[in-house]
Amino acid sequence: MKITVIGAGNVGATVAQRIADKELCEHVVLVDVVDGIPQGKALDMFESAPVHGTDTRLTGTNSYEPTEGSDIVVITAGLARKPGMSRDDLLSKNAEIVGGCAEAAFKQSPNAIFIIVSNPLDVMTYVALKKTGLPRNRVIGMAGVLDSARFRSFIAMELDVSVQDVTAFVLGGHGDSMVPLARYSTVAGIPLPELIPADRLEQILQRTRDGGIEIVNFLKTGSAYYAPGSSAAQMVESIVRNKKRILPCSVWLEGEYGLKDTVVGVPVKLGKNGMEKIIEIKLTDSEAAALKKSSDDVKENIAKVKL
Ligand code: NAI
Ligand code: 2OP
Repeated sequence: MKITVIGAGNVGATVAQRIADKELCEHVVLVDVVDGIPQGKALDMFESAPVHGTDTRLTGTNSYEPTEGSDIVVITAGLARKPGMSRDDLLSKNAEIVGGCAEAAFKQSPNAIFIIVSNPLDVMTYVALKKTGLPRNRVIGMAGVLDSARFRSFIAMELDVSVQDVTAFVLGGHGDSMVPLARYSTVAGIPLPELIPADRLEQILQRTRDGGIEIVNFLKTGSAYYAPGSSAAQMVESIVRNKKRILPCSVWLEGEYGLKDTVVGVPVKLGKNGMEKIIEIKLTDSEAAALKKSSDDVKENIAKVKL
């Protein structure tokens, strides 16, 4: 089992480390355009292996040949927004970067399952899907696992309970119009609306929607990477170990939830074949409308991408 992580920045390095710490494969290949960064980080990580007692090998490279025959490719390469850059600038720049990475990785590993992390997430998943020409079960975006992990951590803090007993669902695109679903979120099986008053719950839902910017405002020079790294690694684990976890992931929809020609987060079963099933849950009219709005936002951005 070989896993390639493209982009050896904050998220890429964290994903690689989580994968190695959990010994999810024999070999992780870390790729970046900057000479020395993937090599140095991969070596540094492998030097921690004797301390952890894990045997996953790590290699850093600036080319794609060493990625040949990867089972999973995780794409984290891309720019973060800088002053003076519009969202559209980021979108077209990252579409170019992610498209190039997806094509180059696919050439070396035509049987791989692709997990996309770069932003804007749902649109980048679309770009990778088109550039590789792979079926939708093998190109999956990471956002819902992160957004629901944030929601879960806020609930655990609010009620002073173990995170292990909290489940939460967030649907939709990875943006301001994401749809955290309180009704389907529970603490030890008890639905959240029975545990937290509605006005307080609304504040927690809003904090979840603002989870990314909350971290950016603290860090000032970049965005979150520990929780994003863990979230991508959880998706890798479910595929590698064929665990068939039900996780919210961004996938191409073909009529599910009444939506098509769009990529948004929905609950899926993740196993050795990638996205093995989309789970359709019953939504209220207002939840369905919120999901549709989120999907329309993604579609609007997909239309701006030049492939
Ligand atoms: P970073 O700036 O730390 O790392 C990005 C890396 O990509 C850099 O090392 C850069 O050299 C590399 N890179 C740029 N062009 C490349 C190319 N053509 N080929 C290979 N590598 C290339 O950024 P960070 O924090 O790691 O974030 C990476 C991406 O992930 C960003 O687009 C960010 O917005 C996104 N992100 C998405 C999340 C999600 O929930 N989906 C969560 C957190 C971040
Ligand atoms: C986040 O939600 C930046 O998308 C990234 O932290």
